[in-house]
Amino acid sequence: MAVKNEILQTAQNCRLNAYAPYSKFKVGAAVLTPSGNIYGGCNVENASYPCGTCAEAGAISAMIAGGETQIAEILIIADTECILPCGNCLQKIAEFGNAKTLIHSADLSGNIKTYTLQQLLPHNFKAGDIKC
Ligand code: THU
Repeated sequence: MAVKNEILQTAQNCRLNAYAPYSKFKVGAAVLTPSGNIYGGCNVENASYPCGTCAEAGAISAMIAGGETQIAEILIIADTECILPCGNCLQKIAEFGNAKTLIHSADLSGNIKTYTLQQLLPHNFKAGDIKC
């Protein structure tokens, strides 16, 4: 499946700015919306480790700040191998995606693996589950 070069470029550029002095593991992400806009993010760590945020969270925040609420595709890139979004990030992606949302995972050697959200998170807690 062809990945838009622009998504990859945005995620790569954001990764360069990742603030990861503790793990040394830099991650970049980019969201593509149905309207064709792209929003990037990177991981931002903190001396108080749990306060750190993932690259996907940054890209999603940028999308919301940009006035959009739907994720058509999201790409994440790290140096070691094609990593998958953590469970927390899959839940965040599910809030703004759907079963067909594409999740691309890239490494710095040019390898890209693509999944659907359905494949990575077939079941999740959602707005409709809140009954009160
Ligand atoms: N990280 C991400 O940015 N996205 C993920 O999906 C997995 C992990 C970051 C968080 C932390 O800054 C570093 O990678 C090591 O866990």
